[in-house]
Amino acid sequence: MPSSRRQFIKSAAAIGSLMALKFSSLASAAAATGLRQVFKDDFSIGTAIPTKLLASRDAGKLDLVAREFSAITAENAMKWQEIRPELNKWRWTLADRLVDFGAEHRMQVVGHALVWHSQVPDAVFFDASGKPLGKKALLARMEEHINTLVGRYQGQIAIWDVVNEAFAAGRWRKSRWFNQIGKDYFEQAFRYAHEADPKAQLIYNDYGMGNPKKQQSVISAIKACRARGVKVHGVGMQSHLHLDGPSLRNIEKAILAFAKADLRVHITELDVDVLPQIDNYDGAEISTDFAYAEELNPYAKGLPAKVQQQLTRRYEDVFKLYIKHKDKIDRVSLWGTSDDESWKNNWPVKGRTNYPLLFDRNRQPKPAYHAIANLR
Ligand code: XIL
Repeated sequence: MPSSRRQFIKSAAAIGSLMALKFSSLASAAAATGLRQVFKDDFSIGTAIPTKLLASRDAGKLDLVAREFSAITAENAMKWQEIRPELNKWRWTLADRLVDFGAEHRMQVVGHALVWHSQVPDAVFFDASGKPLGKKALLARMEEHINTLVGRYQGQIAIWDVVNEAFAAGRWRKSRWFNQIGKDYFEQAFRYAHEADPKAQLIYNDYGMGNPKKQQSVISAIKACRARGVKVHGVGMQSHLHLDGPSLRNIEKAILAFAKADLRVHITELDVDVLPQIDNYDGAEISTDFAYAEELNPYAKGLPAKVQQQLTRRYEDVFKLYIKHKDKIDRVSLWGTSDDESWKNNWPVKGRTNYPLLFDRNRQPKPAYHAIANLR
């Protein structure tokens, strides 16, 4: 073997073992305390809790969550369809469980989401005879919903995603809320939430916030609220990212634009999709579904080392940015804990094997975990 190659192999092996050493010592340091300790002087660090976990009360997973995270969001359990499948039927068990778990572990509990066009029963928008509700009646229904839900957890849920995804392609989304109430629904939702819990932080949450058009729509809707004395404390940047987009520059511009508008920034649903992208879909437009094809699912048997490195680098880069702007950012929440539970295995294409989170399918911390822990 030529000596340069031998030399290369030797130094590669040395770097490899150094990295392994670094990772394993970090692994033990972070694993002893968890990410919540690592980022305690920066922002709270959160995860989403799947309904399945609330139902199973899997102790191993819950211990992991309690050690690692200082904030939790219900992935689905507080959405209208889940918590109130029929108008006179509230299902509190799993939501109560989430709130109790948060209190037990001194976590920030995030309520998600009060007013959204998705995961809401059709019946909400119609009267008993099947006629669409008019503005006044639908606002009354919205008020009663917000009052009951926010009121029940007053003082226990620190942050509410009050309105989710009100804008699409830079305009008001033509949801039933918008079509039947008009843009007033936005302001009224925040007004009702504040009345139900005056101490809660109230958030507007959306995807694709790196898009300047969306930023402007969001900021001007919030300014209009504030001009009429209605409180909106911050914005949630969902942050369903890909390996190669959106650019760090765009993410940074969004953080700066929101901070300039006097809004606290919450990173609410962070994950990093490593799979081939589908043309023409923009972040997290939930109504979009694409057919399965083998070539869209290239890592069913495992993630190649090269892609693992790209994922690690992407997490490292965005966390560097979050740390740089920690004065503007209150919270960074992942949208789940381990890869097996991520919605990104089933969206925008069902039945793929994705690797978007910080823990692998055996609940072990991934290189991305160690890389972000290493930033502190
Ligand atoms: C997703 C959940 O993760 C899935 O389990 C569910 O089937 C659909 O909704 N934006 C949001 C979240 O605000 O509520 C969505 O969560 C992901 C996109």
